[in-house]
Amino acid sequence: MTDVAPAESLSVRGGPVISARMAAILPPFLALLYPLAVWGLFASASLMREAEGTTKIAALYGATASLLCAAIPSLVSFAMLVGHNGREGYSGTRWITLLAFAAPALFTVERVIAAGFRWTFDDRLVWIVVWVALTAIAAAGRERKARLQPAWTGRLRFAHGVSAAVILALFLIAHLGNHFIGLLGTDLHIQVMEMLRVWYRSGIVEPVIVALFLFQVASGVWLASIRQYAPNDPFRMLQVATGVGVAAFLSAHMLVIFIVARWGVGIDTNWVFATGFKVGLLGNLSNARQVPYYLFATFVTIAHLACGLRVVLLAHSWRIAITNRIAVGIIVSGGVFAIATVAGMLGLRLG
Ligand code: HEM
Repeated sequence: MTDVAPAESLSVRGGPVISARMAAILPPFLALLYPLAVWGLFASASLMREAEGTTKIAALYGATASLLCAAIPSLVSFAMLVGHNGREGYSGTRWITLLAFAAPALFTVERVIAAGFRWTFDDRLVWIVVWVALTAIAAAGRERKARLQPAWTGRLRFAHGVSAAVILALFLIAHLGNHFIGLLGTDLHIQVMEMLRVWYRSGIVEPVIVALFLFQVASGVWLASIRQYAPNDPFRMLQVATGVGVAAFLSAHMLVIFIVARWGVGIDTNWVFATGFKVGLLGNLSNARQVPYYLFATFVTIAHLACGLRVVLLAHSWRIAITNRIAVGIIVSGGVFAIATVAGMLGLRLG
């Protein structure tokens, strides 16, 4: 069992010391403001379509700045989690910080729930209420008791890793590759998806993929809740944070694809569906959520896998400097891959 250090202040990687309370409040407060970034992106994109000359260029800067702002809750949450450095000053709200990290995915989870239950009011009101409440809880803070890890945690971690490897081989490489191919042309993407569907939509493979993803989410949430500290190991903290991000994304993604679209409305979940129907991803405010959402999802999935690979390599006695370099290489490539994939969904074509 790990010791619980007193609530003190928080040193963010040798930078200025900020109080533990501020470190707890900042992530949920920034998540509260997240819808503004999506609104900024949509407003700038709309202006870009209509304006000419310098206004168009200003709108392009506005769209880029909005996308960068959309990353702020996740970046700040991660900095706070790393700056935590083994102390428990704000650990009572550690889950709030992890949820704030996943804001781009949760904002779509909320949209999916609103669509599913046919809410007639603006669902962003719920976002405001929830994040104001979470900010208040974070401000109140509470000491958290360290928790004993059950003996079977090691076996669960192993199973989580094996299941991830099977998912990668059975589905994920092909799925992400197929969306990346959108950059080369919509027709090519559709042809490849139709071929792949024969495999992953078959009566045997599809239930296995869905079961494995459900297991990943359930086991991942458990592992995230027992991993209390990551002193001086930003990669471990990144693994936990991106794991929560992937779980939040999958909740929205599976819910919308299976429950809302395929079984509920009965529509084909193809390219037209993924890219915001005929109006496009930036065609209305609701669709615009999906731009940072898909960027976030693709990036955190690859970053999470990179951190997992690092753990496996370290367990096989690879040198830490080399494993870190490999992980950083995959994470940076994941960022480029995510941007290219979403650019393809927005209409960019190579060649
Ligand atoms: C740019 C990113 C992504 C886009 C645009 C996207 C889009 C889609 C679409 C359109 C489908 C329906 C496929 C079909 O009808 O054949 C689908 C299915 C699915 N996606 Fe994604 N996806 C993305 C990333 C991911 C990621 C990162 C994961 C996992 C971490 C994931 C997991 C799944 C799963 C489990 C299914 C259900 C597959 C089945 O039918 O059995 N997706 N996705």
